[in-house]
Amino acid sequence: MSTPRTLVVVAHPDLAASRVTAHLAQSIRDLEHVTVHDIAAAYPDSRIDTTHEQRLLREHDVIVWQFPWHWYSVPGVLKTWMDKVLTHGFAYGTGGTALHGKTLQLVTSTGGPEGSYATDGFNRFTIDELLAPVHATAHLTGMHLGEPVVLYSARTVSDEDLALHAKRYRALLAA
Ligand SMILES: Cc1cc2nc3c(=O)[nH]c(=O)nc-3n(C[C@H](O)[C@H](O)[C@H](O)COP(=O)(O)O)c2cc1C
Repeated sequence: MSTPRTLVVVAHPDLAASRVTAHLAQSIRDLEHVTVHDIAAAYPDSRIDTTHEQRLLREHDVIVWQFPWHWYSVPGVLKTWMDKVLTHGFAYGTGGTALHGKTLQLVTSTGGPEGSYATDGFNRFTIDELLAPVHATAHLTGMHLGEPVVLYSARTVSDEDLALHAKRYRALLAA
């Protein structure tokens, strides 16, 4: 079987100001079968080229959404991308089968510690519960949703632990 082609949609509002997302994106940039696509840089005016994005999606087997956790969800830049790219007739509805059988992999980081994402924790809900809209999106679009890769306590993570996490992320994409 050939190596799956992987599209990493990096969705940070300002990658230049990022520590974690930027480090993770840098750690996989040289992988041969991986395309790293910084959507905030590609579309600083938010005018997303739907045709180009849909072509990229068609050309890849694994789609990674790599983003910082913002307000218990994906950042606005990724939500805008979803609104413009996952259109009727492409991603769902009549003839909308372009994403069927692909894998959707989430890679995110949270400010809150792991223990805060629990029913009795500070944030009241688990990450998986908060990801219900993404589960529904994957189902509607016929994609298989992989187990999310989450780095908790991202604001205070040590350089060593961040490097270790990046190594694991790279190994996942290289597999
Ligand atoms: C606008 C905004 C909203 C955020 N919302 C959350 C949140 O809901 N839950 C949480 O745990 N962390 C939240 N954070 C913290 C970020 O998830 C954290 O700083 C980020 O993962 C670090 O990655 P970066 O260095 O790539 O920016 C938020 C940060 C910002 C700037």
